[in-house]
This record gives sequence, C-alpha cells and structure tokens, in this order.
Amino acid sequence: EKEPVKVLVTGAAGQIGYALIPMIARGVMLGPDQPVIIHMLDIEQAAEALHGVEMELIDGAFPLLRGVVATTDVAEACSDVNIAIMLGGIPRTEGMERKAVMSRNVSIYKAQALALEQHAAADCKVLVVANPANTNALILKEFAPSIPEKNITCLTRLDHNRALGQIAEKLQEHVSDVKNVIIWGNHSSTQYPDVNHATVTTSSGEISVRDLIADDKWLNTEFITTVQQRGAAIIKARKHSSALSAASAVCDHIHDWVLGTPEGTWVSMGVCSYGSYGITPGLIYSFPVTCQNGKWSIVQGLKIDEFSRAKMDATANELLEEKSLAYSFLG
Ligand code: NAI
Repeated sequence: EKEPVKVLVTGAAGQIGYALIPMIARGVMLGPDQPVIIHMLDIEQAAEALHGVEMELIDGAFPLLRGVVATTDVAEACSDVNIAIMLGGIPRTEGMERKAVMSRNVSIYKAQALALEQHAAADCKVLVVANPANTNALILKEFAPSIPEKNITCLTRLDHNRALGQIAEKLQEHVSDVKNVIIWGNHSSTQYPDVNHATVTTSSGEISVRDLIADDKWLNTEFITTVQQRGAAIIKARKHSSALSAASAVCDHIHDWVLGTPEGTWVSMGVCSYGSYGITPGLIYSFPVTCQNGKWSIVQGLKIDEFSRAKMDATANELLEEKSLAYSFLG
C-alpha cells in the first residue's frame, strides 16, 4: 500500500474548506488508491467550528483517510505536509477597501510562508486560493525561499473550468469534449479567458471553437465578461462564495499537477513567470500548462493576436500594481 500523503488545508473551517475536505478524503484529489492524512488549520475564533468538521470527518468513515490534525497552531499544521492548500485569509466584505484586504492578507501569507519553510516537507507543493490569490502566492514565494519556486502556484482552474462550461453550454456539447481554453493573468476581473486555441471533439474530429461559434461578438465580449464576473454572480445568487466549484477546481489543479495532464490537453495554473509571452519574470501569472511527473511546464509558441496581447498586458499590469502595493505594506 502507498504511504499516506499529508495534505494541509488552511482556512479549513470556511466555506470552501467544508466542500473540499470530504473530496480529499474520498480520493477525488489524489486518486482512489492514495491514502491521505488531512491537516486542518484555522484561527482561534473558528476553533469550535473546526472541531465540528473534525467530528464529521470521523463520521464519514472514509477508507482513504488515515489521520486528521485539526489545529490553530501554524507550526503543527505545517508539520511535514506534502501538499498545502491555502484557503485561509480575510475576505473582502462590503465597504472594505481593497488596500485594507491586501494589507491584512499579505501579512498572513508572509507569516505562513515562514511556517511552511520551517516545517513542511522540502518538496511541498503549494496552491494558494485565498484572494488576492496571485499576490498572496507571490508573497509566499518570496518569503519561503527554500521551497522551490515552481512548487508555489495559485488557483485559476476555476476560471478555466468556467470557460469550458460556458463554451459547452453555448454549443450544447459535453463539457468533457471541450478543451484548451486559457486563462491568462490575474485571478481577478482583469483575467483574460482566451478561446483562440480551444477545440471541441466532435464525431468529425477536433474542431476549433472559433469555427464552431461564428458569433465573434459573443466570444469577444459576453463570453469574456461572464467568465470574469462569474464569482460575483454566484455570490449574488447564493449569498456565499462559489465554494462547491472552487473546491472541485482545487482537486482538478492538484490532481493534474501530481498525476499529469492528458496527452494533447493543457490546463490553466497561476505559476511563476520566467518571461514566456513577454510577462515580467517573477510574477505569479496564469498560463496554459501541461504537467508530467509532478512538474508543470508552460505551453510555448502559441500565436497571440493584437486583441489578446492587449488583454494579457492589462492583467499583467494589474499584478505589477498589486505587487508594489503588497511590498508597501511589508516595508
Ligand atoms: P471563508 O471566509 O468562508 O473562509 C476563510 C477561512 O479562513 C475562515 O474560516 C477564517 O477563519 C480562516 N482564516 C482567516 N485568517 C486565517 C489565518 N491567518 N490562518 C488560517 N485561517 C484563517 O472563505 P471561503 O469562501 O472559504 O473562501 C476562501 C478564500 O478563497 C477567500 O479568500 C476567497 O476570496 C477565495 N476564493 C478564491 C477563488 C479562486 O478561484 N482563486 C474562488 C473562490 C474563493
């Protein structure tokens, strides 16, 4: 039998945590033959709720679950973890300034970077979900220099999946037949969902989405804004964040990173830029990637038209602004 993998979930008593933790315990994230030990971290005010989740994990009688640690101690939570899913943070509430949210989260991510660096497994894979996701991941990368920077990523797979969903709905095709959309840039409303390389598998082979959807106007306007604003639309409808689809996307991200992407398919991940497509090195930017043997690589050589270029640059500029704002808080 395989050795259990230790998975840390921070902010585990929150909305996404409640949807995500049973998925991990059921093997959705790492496969049906991979035992797991789940470490759950939250803050003191949420300790009782966290204990409730711990009781439910016991009651779930999950065959793959080999242990649970529920704690408010960051060092204990990070101890020897192989995978860290960072959901914890201060959400932006009505009337709260973007700057205020940023300053509080940046200091949380700096502190948790140091804890991961000291206590996590040396090759720990990190996925930051909490917003501002790209910039939190950037801070984590800068303050955990002993963790390989390629191991620090942020979630844009939810946006990627949303884009697949919109195309499938428009064409009335199965979502599993749609592939190779791209989310470029920041997990924010400046992200650029790009369909120029996306295809649909039909009975007569793979056909480009641009050929199937003649309505360029829809693809260049409504499709993009629907994906960009989907999170807000769900909060408006549910009065809570899109926890179910976020949790599912977290599983997809880690699953594909660890177990690989299928031949001919790429996915979107927020990863460290090394200058591909002219994006400033060091930023955490969402790119199309393929994964093999636990490593991602950016899909190279895609043709970028003028429309895409402008949108890719706009979201990169927002990330540069966020980075300098974040650093202004750290002094
Ligand atoms: P939530 O507010 O329900 O849960 C957040 C949890 O983090 C709370 O239990 C809180 O006590 C905890 N927390 C706060 N400070 C902490 C700290 N220092 N250490 C550990 N835990 C801490 O929020 P929800 O809905 O679960 O969302 C989590 C985050 O994910 C939010 O920042 C949200 O904006 C973001 N998000 C990102 C998405 C993406 O695609 N990247 C999609 C959906 C949400």
